[in-house]
Amino acid sequence: MKELYVLGICGSQRKGGNTEKALDMVLSTLGGHGIETELVQLYNKDIRGCTSCRYCRAMPAVACSIKDDFYPEIFEKMVRADGIILGAPVYFGSIPAKLKGLLERAGMLSEGRISIETPVDDKKWPGARSGIKSDKKTKGGGLYRGKVGGAIVTTRRTGANAALAELLMWFMICNFTVVSSSYWTVLIGGKRVPDAVKFKKEGKEYFTSDLSKDTLEQDEEGREDLVDFAENYIEVLSRLRG
Ligand SMILES: Cc1cc2nc3c(=O)[nH]c(=O)nc-3n(C[C@H](O)[C@H](O)[C@H](O)COP(=O)(O)O)c2cc1C
Repeated sequence: MKELYVLGICGSQRKGGNTEKALDMVLSTLGGHGIETELVQLYNKDIRGCTSCRYCRAMPAVACSIKDDFYPEIFEKMVRADGIILGAPVYFGSIPAKLKGLLERAGMLSEGRISIETPVDDKKWPGARSGIKSDKKTKGGGLYRGKVGGAIVTTRRTGANAALAELLMWFMICNFTVVSSSYWTVLIGGKRVPDAVKFKKEGKEYFTSDLSKDTLEQDEEGREDLVDFAENYIEVLSRLRG
């Protein structure tokens, strides 16, 4: 079997938080089956959203006008990967802004391309297959076509379905095959812990609540759903990419 490589992307701003732990659990199961895995964290990265400049659509080979921690480094890993697993905490009923920015740009760089070396043929589609210009298929399948996608969301309380849907919809617009589980891949139950975080400013102490990092431990059903997800993921990945 071919060497397979799966990239996990953790959209959390907390190192060692709930989302990282959930992704670790799945990636270590994949690793146990001989799959090469890597986890990219976004908490310490500078990543901006798409500016709609159209530079990437005009350049002959793939290129982004914004040079930051997403491009080229993370983008190149995404293109190399056989599969990508996205992890996000819920932030106000949605995914965190940095992850959203990454997905906007990763999607825009890919759409319609056949490879990173060839131009995206924006000039011929849409219209090509509707018979207006020609019957030749001109829209490429994108750089992620045939890769395997999966998503995990962690939440203190609610908003997870919308965030999970955002991640799954990104995979679907980008031509991934998406892996499911025996339930939605959501871990729920982080607690607010009052007065757990201390700040010092000008000699004075301030306290605030912490969003505890125990979601994975306390959500037994969620953990089982991740086990099923990991098993499905390995099966789909081996069948499609092995
Ligand atoms: C800015 C912000 C917004 C949040 N919004 C929500 C929310 O809408 N619903 C919810 O249940 N939890 C919300 N949370 C809590 C986190 O989603 C939850 O604690 C998550 O498990 C944190 O994951 P992490 O440990 O990987 O950071 C929010 C946390 C932050 C920092």
